[in-house]
Amino acid sequence: MTPYITEAADPLVGTATAWQESWDRQQEAFMPDREARLAAMLDAVDAVVDGDAPRLLDLAGGTGTISLRALARFPRAEVTLVDLDPALLALAEASLRDRATVLVADLGRPDWADRLPHRDYDAVLTATALHWLPADRLTALYGEIRGLLRPGGLLVNADRMPDDALPGLTDRLTTRARERRATRYAAGAALSWPDWWERAGADPVLGPLVAQRHEIYPTGHSPEWNPPVSWHLDTLAAAGFTEVGTLWRGGADAAVAAVR
Ligand SMILES: C[S@@+](CC[C@H](N)C(=O)[O-])C[C@H]1O[C@@H](n2cnc3c(N)ncnc32)[C@H](O)[C@@H]1O
Repeated sequence: MTPYITEAADPLVGTATAWQESWDRQQEAFMPDREARLAAMLDAVDAVVDGDAPRLLDLAGGTGTISLRALARFPRAEVTLVDLDPALLALAEASLRDRATVLVADLGRPDWADRLPHRDYDAVLTATALHWLPADRLTALYGEIRGLLRPGGLLVNADRMPDDALPGLTDRLTTRARERRATRYAAGAALSWPDWWERAGADPVLGPLVAQRHEIYPTGHSPEWNPPVSWHLDTLAAAGFTEVGTLWRGGADAAVAAVR
């Protein structure tokens, strides 16, 4: 455990469930099929551990979305979550408590894995996060993740990964999704990303953590590097994974899987 996360999480225990719900609704405004991709990830984990309790790494896990769903499905799972955002880490810790190990780590640095408790994970899972990293760093990270998996272990990365064969249709799908989202924001049906952060910043407990976050992510978001799915598959194969492919697709998003 990172002690400052535990301290920050204590006063959030009573409100963390409501913040989890609010985070989920905000993320679903971008990805209406978010639960389907998460379920596909956990099906793949189930397949590689064949009924045993998995040892999982939730990479850039945010509030603990994947960890919480994994523990609901595999109650004896051994879960590690890493992220860099102090507000989201505090919510993760408040929700997961002694059911997971929650650690601060910067995936932009090659030493990010130094404090992990294991080197033989059954699965490394990550969603809607690695587009925050540039090409050279993500290339290196795929190799580093392979080194943290046991033989036969699984990586699943779900993110914006357009299908190379459908560039025109993908543009239309993305435009129409953006228009639908704008209608929902305007009607107050969902909170946008900046609105969610504004609300978290106004919370007396989360507010100071959101202020710390602004120092870590000065622009509030990432450079958004979203290469096509072929880039991910080629890079994973080059990193030495034995099986690489698309596990799930929804519009411009996909989950790629790679087996060590
Ligand atoms: C959109 S959130 C997704 C969180 C979670 N996986 C989910 O699906 O709800 C992206 C996450 O990536 C994390 N992240 C971005 N860059 C990072 C880095 N360099 N190191 C660690 N985490 C990072 C952010 O802090 C944030 O929690």
